[in-house]
Amino acid sequence: MKITLSVLKADIGSIGGHTLPSRRVLTKVEEVVREEVGRLLLDAHVFHIGDDIVLLFSHIHGIRNAAIHELAWKAFREGTQVAKEEGLYGAGQDLLKDAFSGNLHGLGPQVAEMEFEERPAEPFMVLAADKTEPGAFNLPLYLVFADPMYSSGLLLSSELRPGFRFRIMDLAQTERDSYIVLDAPERLYDIAALLRDSHRFGIESIWSRRYGEIAAVVSTTRLRNIAGRYVGKDDPVAIIRTQKIFPATEEFGPPFALAPFVAGDTRGSHHLPLMPVKANTPASTFFCVPMVCGLAFSLKEGRFSEPVDLFADPVWDTVRAKVVEKAQEMRRQGFYGPAMLPMEELEYTGIAERLKELEREFS
Ligand code: 13P
Ligand code: 13P
Ligand code: MG
Ligand code: MG
Ligand code: MG
Repeated sequence: MKITLSVLKADIGSIGGHTLPSRRVLTKVEEVVREEVGRLLLDAHVFHIGDDIVLLFSHIHGIRNAAIHELAWKAFREGTQVAKEEGLYGAGQDLLKDAFSGNLHGLGPQVAEMEFEERPAEPFMVLAADKTEPGAFNLPLYLVFADPMYSSGLLLSSELRPGFRFRIMDLAQTERDSYIVLDAPERLYDIAALLRDSHRFGIESIWSRRYGEIAAVVSTTRLRNIAGRYVGKDDPVAIIRTQKIFPATEEFGPPFALAPFVAGDTRGSHHLPLMPVKANTPASTFFCVPMVCGLAFSLKEGRFSEPVDLFADPVWDTVRAKVVEKAQEMRRQGFYGPAMLPMEELEYTGIAERLKELEREFS
């Protein structure tokens, strides 16, 4: 059976700052979604990461389907209404346009979708990040899908031996989507040359070269490209199929344990490590350190098993303790050097205005 997985995510308001959505908002969003399970949807699961609400849908309507996107839009709109009633901060923050126009692309929410023929066993995971950029997934996914130092399946499994195809998006393009398609391992250095620049280039999807099957899809919406100014961080989501012809679920652990420095955190304007956390974790008052959570499911005829939280077992407490040290070390140098983003990436225009004023004082 051909199944579509759609993950749609938006920040529609949070308690006491950019922390987490309220119980009432989450309940409203879930109510709207639940009504369609068994109708438009085969199944649904709702969770949050920091201040972002993530909707996972399974259905048979394909990607970019108007009815599916409209359901998410409706859930986010009704949730926003509750957020406004409660006076939550940034109510409706990611709903950048007033009217729905056929699909969610360009309206603010993050979207990641894939359609595939369901395997007899179809394990997959959803990754959701807060306080960071779409390119935040570049390094972990490169290591899982292209580097045998991390991904033992590339050596041990004949299914993975031909490698994976990367579709990489130029995130700076505002007029139209612009992609490049590169095969690993032959084009490994070209892939690395692009992915190293996580502000400019982001993995959009990854494909099995042997089977032509989609392995991973990442949302690539840059809010600044839509709004033309800082309206919060992009906070990407991803869907990844695992096992058999794809890397094993546990092969994703070590690359995420690296916790690479990514853009985001406070005012979307700094570099801090991407910390793996449990699903439904509030944003951290430690400078809004970027976070990623992962839930894995099994799928049967489009219905989800209960989720397993990928960053909940005891290993991750130790990893987090190290990531906190790494984050604190960077923060010690305050605004200086790589702690704050380079000028062209700075999301706040205040500093540009300040420098302009100072220009007059130069002689
Ligand atoms: P199990 O025997 O626990 O299924 O181990 C499977 C495995 O090889 C995991 O990588
Ligand atoms: P989000 O609302 O996009 O999570 O980020 C807000 C922010 O900049 C916190 O400092
Ligand atoms: Mg927010
Ligand atoms: Mg957020
Ligand atoms: Mg955001």
